Amino acid sequence: MYQNIENITRDIVRINQTLLLAKHARYRRWPRSIIHFIALYFNNCCIHGFRYLVKAMLVVFEKFLWLVLLFVSIYFCIVVCLSSIDRYYTKSTHIGLERNYYFWNTTLPSVTICPMHRLDSALFADYCRKNGIKGTQKTVFWDFLENLANSTYINFQNIPESDQIDQIIKDIGLKPEHYMDVIYNLTFDSTYDPFEQNRTRCVDGQTYIHVRQVLTEYGLCYLGNTRLGLMYSSRYLIFGKYPEFNKYEHQRKLLPHVEGSFFVPDVEYTVVGFTSPAIDSYIHSAYEVMKVDANFGYTSDGMVFDPYLEEITAEDNLERHTTVSMRKCRFHHESNLTHFPFYTRNVCMQECRLNLAYKLCKCIPHFYPNRITNPKKVCDYKTLRSCFPRYTSNFLQLYEKNGSDKKTRVCYCEQNCIDSVVTMRTALPLLDSKELLQSIGCKVSVKRWPQNRLKRQVIFSLTDLLVSIGGTAGLFLGFSVLGLVEVLYFFTIRLIWQSLGYTL
Ligand SMILES: *[C@@H]1O[C@H](CO)[C@@H](O)[C@H](O)[C@H]1NC(C)=O
Ligand SMILES: *[C@@H]1O[C@H](CO)[C@@H](O)[C@H](O)[C@H]1NC(C)=O
Ligand SMILES: *[C@@H]1O[C@H](CO)[C@@H](O)[C@H](O)[C@H]1NC(C)=O
Ligand SMILES: *[C@@H]1O[C@H](CO)[C@@H](O)[C@H](O)[C@H]1NC(C)=O
Repeated sequence: MYQNIENITRDIVRINQTLLLAKHARYRRWPRSIIHFIALYFNNCCIHGFRYLVKAMLVVFEKFLWLVLLFVSIYFCIVVCLSSIDRYYTKSTHIGLERNYYFWNTTLPSVTICPMHRLDSALFADYCRKNGIKGTQKTVFWDFLENLANSTYINFQNIPESDQIDQIIKDIGLKPEHYMDVIYNLTFDSTYDPFEQNRTRCVDGQTYIHVRQVLTEYGLCYLGNTRLGLMYSSRYLIFGKYPEFNKYEHQRKLLPHVEGSFFVPDVEYTVVGFTSPAIDSYIHSAYEVMKVDANFGYTSDGMVFDPYLEEITAEDNLERHTTVSMRKCRFHHESNLTHFPFYTRNVCMQECRLNLAYKLCKCIPHFYPNRITNPKKVCDYKTLRSCFPRYTSNFLQLYEKNGSDKKTRVCYCEQNCIDSVVTMRTALPLLDSKELLQSIGCKVSVKRWPQNRLKRQVIFSLTDLLVSIGGTAGLFLGFSVLGLVEVLYFFTIRLIWQSLGYTL
């Protein structure tokens, strides 16, 4: 009985031992089959050199040599590929020169004109009647509003300040964030004047060219001959609505902007219809907005400008094939600005100035669009008087002083991808314009056309990058796309077959 039990125990122990042994053997076979599989891959793969690592006949020294060579090749392959990628991201575009000027249409520069007398007396009288402003209060308030509407970085100190003004503002409940609305409401948009004599219009012979009221850093001004979209208009920037249809402009043939070419020797247009005794004019590229510090002076006569243009254009595929950081320029519709729904370089500088003002004076002037989710605080007129004149040159030149006299630029604005450089050859007063046209204005007359033009081009596209990486991999390793497919194939389908027991 006891012996029987002993026998059984011995049997169980023996069975256990054999089972354990079998298990060990299976585990020991696993790494070997993996190594075998990798060796199989090395033998068959497309990267030259791997084969020699697993060749049975070679001595260790030879194998070592091949290993070193492989590592050197892979290292240089990676270095060259990275430099191709860097080239793709940072140096893939360049600016070339075009000379076939016979076929170009060049857009004439834009003119922005700010009338120096801003408010409309009829609208103002109406506003005073509605708000119960009478007598001397009316004159004081007119003076205040007129100067507020005429204010910019150079003349904030001219805004009058008195207890009477404070009283009126308190009575009618005028908050700083409504300054611009009131100024807009009390300014008559003279492009809608029914009388042609007084209407602000842009003409070239019998043709009208589109002109509109815009919101600038110098208040409400008029812009003619522009290529910017309707978002750049006072109504859109203040209220978010496109300008109303102007039926007077459509009475004649209407052009959005004038172009000229080599075969038309002299092209000109005139912006007239300012009843204000004086105007301030800015001439700039048709792809840009005015720069408040680059005016042609305050004149009570008209001006004739004879500019010289040089355009910079872009290849059609530039926008599709590159990102902003690759080409280092922005198109009109690629805005990343907060206050403006479109992009130009000068608008970016305006936003920069606005941010600087917000930083230095803790509020922004009323003439900036502020229809954003977290509107910035708008300065009341006292802050405009007290804080801004101190920093005039900081604002105009966009720098900040920190510590000692060290100036730092406060922002970086990308260029416009499409733009033109306007150089003034002559700017003469347009004498007798008042007698001739019954109003003052500006004339732009282009007599010489550019014979060079710059063009932004893509010289290293995504295809080039692929070819370059593929070429590098081929040069250093003999590697190719099908080789990559082979790797995937080997370690998926082949692996499954192998583990199921089918071997080649
Ligand atoms: C230039 O303008 C003319 C007439 O205005 C037009 O026929 C031509 O197609 C334009 N050329 C280009 C390159 O846009
Ligand atoms: C508007 O400002 C300009 C520049 O400071 C000044 O010359 C002009 O007289 C001002 N207009 C009025 C009506 O005060
Ligand atoms: C400006 O005019 C519009 C429409 O006429 C009116 O709704 C708005 O309240 C006015 N704004 C101010 C601040 O008076
Ligand atoms: C817009 O982009 C530029 C660079 O592309 C950057 O420097 C700037 O800060 C951006 N502006 C905003 C408001 O995000």
